[in-house]
Amino acid sequence: MARPSGRAGGKTRRVPEAAVDRLGRSADGYDRGMCPGRTECAQAVSARPEAPRAVRAHLRGWLTEMRWPGRAIDDIALAVSEAVTNVVEHAYRSVTVGGIVEVDCEAIGADRRQLRIWVRDRGRWRPRRLDPGFRGWGLEVIAALMLELRIQPREGGGTEVMMLTRPIPPI
Ligand SMILES: Nc1ncnc2c1ncn2[C@@H]1O[C@H](COP(=O)(O)OP(=O)(O)O)[C@@H](O)[C@H]1O
Ligand SMILES: [Mg+2]
Repeated sequence: MARPSGRAGGKTRRVPEAAVDRLGRSADGYDRGMCPGRTECAQAVSARPEAPRAVRAHLRGWLTEMRWPGRAIDDIALAVSEAVTNVVEHAYRSVTVGGIVEVDCEAIGADRRQLRIWVRDRGRWRPRRLDPGFRGWGLEVIAALMLELRIQPREGGGTEVMMLTRPIPPI
């Protein structure tokens, strides 16, 4: 498979892997025992092509356990997947090893039926293409699915994407 053109040029950097051990998780996964029954869910995975799927699978498990409706889970999984894909594809485009994407979710509100989600990286922002061609829909998709979407640079480098879901009815 051809590699995205942006990856070919530029300097290669290494990103410290310290964040991976934050919750005792491995570079490629996460501790599945961390989230069930909790109102927060934290993941840190290697920013590799497998990352979006791994993050979606874990999120789905957590939300199913919290008895979120399937359609809401679909929307959240899609939005988070787009943000994680952006990290893999854009943020760490010049990094060959050690890029980490962190996904943190918190159920908020009196009945905990709304989620605040953060997708964070330590990569580099890529300016949006003037003419994205058939690309450039990921952030639009997220914005359409979420009540709020905020993208900001992180202190020390990288990007933070914050999403707020629509509240769902109480059980
Ligand atoms: N985490 C990120 N790090 C660096 N650049 C990003 C990140 N997320 C988005 N971008 C930039 O925003 C643009 C728009 O993202 P998106 O709407 O998902 O479209 P696409 O991924 O198809 O280019 C990307 O092309 C890239 O320039
Ligand atoms: Mg994208």
